[in-house]
Amino acid sequence: MKSVLLIALIVALGSCQGAEVAEPLAAQDRSFSSVILELVEEFRVVLQNGVPSYGIPVLAPMTAAKRSFEINSGEFSGTFGVEDFVLEGLDQYEVITMNMDVFRSRLTFEFLFRSLNFTTNYEVDMGSGYRIKRNGGAFFALEDLSIRGRISYSLGVLTSNLRVKDVLIYPSVGNVNSQIENLSKYRIFNRKLNEVIEEFVTLTINDNTDFVAKWVSEQATPVCNDLIGDRTLSDIIAIITGGF
Ligand SMILES: *[C@@H]1O[C@H](CO)[C@@H](O)[C@H](O)[C@H]1NC(C)=O
Ligand SMILES: *[C@@H]1O[C@H](CO)[C@@H](O)[C@H](O)[C@H]1NC(C)=O
Repeated sequence: MKSVLLIALIVALGSCQGAEVAEPLAAQDRSFSSVILELVEEFRVVLQNGVPSYGIPVLAPMTAAKRSFEINSGEFSGTFGVEDFVLEGLDQYEVITMNMDVFRSRLTFEFLFRSLNFTTNYEVDMGSGYRIKRNGGAFFALEDLSIRGRISYSLGVLTSNLRVKDVLIYPSVGNVNSQIENLSKYRIFNRKLNEVIEEFVTLTINDNTDFVAKWVSEQATPVCNDLIGDRTLSDIIAIITGGF
């Protein structure tokens, strides 16, 4: 009987405290979310204008007059070149959700790119047993590309040092549109090859979500923590809010 009372007391106290704490946390949730949203909007301007003083070029649209790559992997070797390459749409994202959950220490978000596409002339010259030589124009688009993600973090109890625990990214694509000319000199077969590419890319993006999520998590988590260093959460908020 005594212990039941004790438990009841603890629960009652706990919920009082919970109510007290939840109120300012909810306010914090909102302010963090709006700070991050502001940052996301700033980033759009960076993509559109670049940051010349840091050597960051304009990325939306991203252009390359001429570039060629040497491919050398075992049986495949040759060159792959592009001319008049233009990538559009990196800045055309919509923020579908952006939620900072201070209580559970995580940020969830979803970005949607309506169309991320490039136009280019290409030239391939590959040798492997037989020789493949192709050139022509190309258009390639990822449509309704959604990037969902969740970043979990922890705050040191005493120092409030921020640590990123996990970065999960789940991409998915609504439609892939591939129009690469001259893959075959027969038009029907050319369309077929483009369809194979469309299907391959769709499946690669949509069916490998756990693989991608795991890979990104492994790559991004240590990088984030390196960037954060010994800074506390309030240091970081100060840097972000002071910067703009
Ligand atoms: C390519 O992407 C841009 C930016 O999203 C969009 O405005 C344009 O309509 C797209 N082009 C085509 C042909 O879909
Ligand atoms: C396709 O390839 C042929 C032979 O390489 C070339 O003459 C032709 O210009 C190419 N077609 C296009 C549309 O670029």
